[in-house]
Amino acid sequence: MAVTQKKTILSGIQPTNRLTLGNYLGAIKNWVKIQSDYTCFFMAVDQHAITTRQKPEELRENTWFAIASYIAAGIDPATCSLFIQSQMPQHTQLAWILYCNGYMGELNRMTQFKDKSSKTGANIPVGLFTYPLLMAADILLYDAQLVPVGEDQKQHVELTRDVAQRVNGIYGEDAFVVPEAFIPKVGARVMDLQTPTAKMSKSAVNESGSIFLADSADQIEKKFKRAVTDSGSDITFDFNEKPGVSNLISIQAAITGETIDAVVQRYQGKQYGHLKVETAEIVRGELLPIQLKTRELLADRGELIRILRLGAEQAAVVADRTLKRIYDRVGFVRFES
Ligand code: TYM
Repeated sequence: MAVTQKKTILSGIQPTNRLTLGNYLGAIKNWVKIQSDYTCFFMAVDQHAITTRQKPEELRENTWFAIASYIAAGIDPATCSLFIQSQMPQHTQLAWILYCNGYMGELNRMTQFKDKSSKTGANIPVGLFTYPLLMAADILLYDAQLVPVGEDQKQHVELTRDVAQRVNGIYGEDAFVVPEAFIPKVGARVMDLQTPTAKMSKSAVNESGSIFLADSADQIEKKFKRAVTDSGSDITFDFNEKPGVSNLISIQAAITGETIDAVVQRYQGKQYGHLKVETAEIVRGELLPIQLKTRELLADRGELIRILRLGAEQAAVVADRTLKRIYDRVGFVRFES
């Protein structure tokens, strides 16, 4: 019997706040869907999080919350390796080598860097600039072929590919596996409910535009009721003409699994108000069991620690192997122990 080896996927989320519906639909829900077909590594990227100032206690709690949310949403810790980035020193070790092979020019072009650095004032942390190369290290360390992310991370995965190919050109073609972004068809770019031309974000100034995974039923209902819709009254799907309405339609489609057309059909002859109320109901229905399970998991830190220890051990086997391989290629002296 032929044994087919599963491909590897890796992904992570910054625990900079409680996760949003965007993180859930653009990333976690997709991870859950594909987890059984791949060898999976999922992490909370707390080292990325400190590229913007975090309150230590909040960062810690948000990190626990992120891991608990992954499991509550359906990630199976028995088959996937779950871990916290800062517990794996290999990531920053590999990152250094990538810093020496990435170029200032390419990092300068990163949209997220331009966005975030425009908000920090004159003192832009160096980590905010080099961050995409730490993300490249996260991915390349595990020989990941696929990186399931939302649309906004595509540019960082492209950079990872460029740097991996460059290193392969210098140190040998099989130094790194060159990964690809894996982006869901619907839900890859959930927009802010108040400003539907901007993506929904954990760090939005106006929190009423973001649905957080921990929001109460009441908050969800209110935020959708107040969601900005568009001029006219027909419910049609067109992100240029009707960004607000289109956002609600795609949120529904991403949750129910219906096509965009099927959702639009359901709303023929109905009004924006129906769409808002029903989207809120669908989101509430999706999040409620996840919220209950998250709470349960957070109440049992012992079990979460067990899962994270195991995840880190499994991750270390692959990470150490890659790091040794790259250290050898680069010419670092290494003693076999
Ligand atoms: P982060 O924390 O900003 O977002 C985590 C994941 O959620 C997706 N996402 C969205 N998807 C749809 N609509 C939205 N409004 C939305 N907002 C966020 C993101 O695309 C992402 O998949 N640099 C990464 C984290 C990271 C990472 C990695 C990812 C670090 N190392 C290695 C993959 C592999 C980030 O800041 O994601």
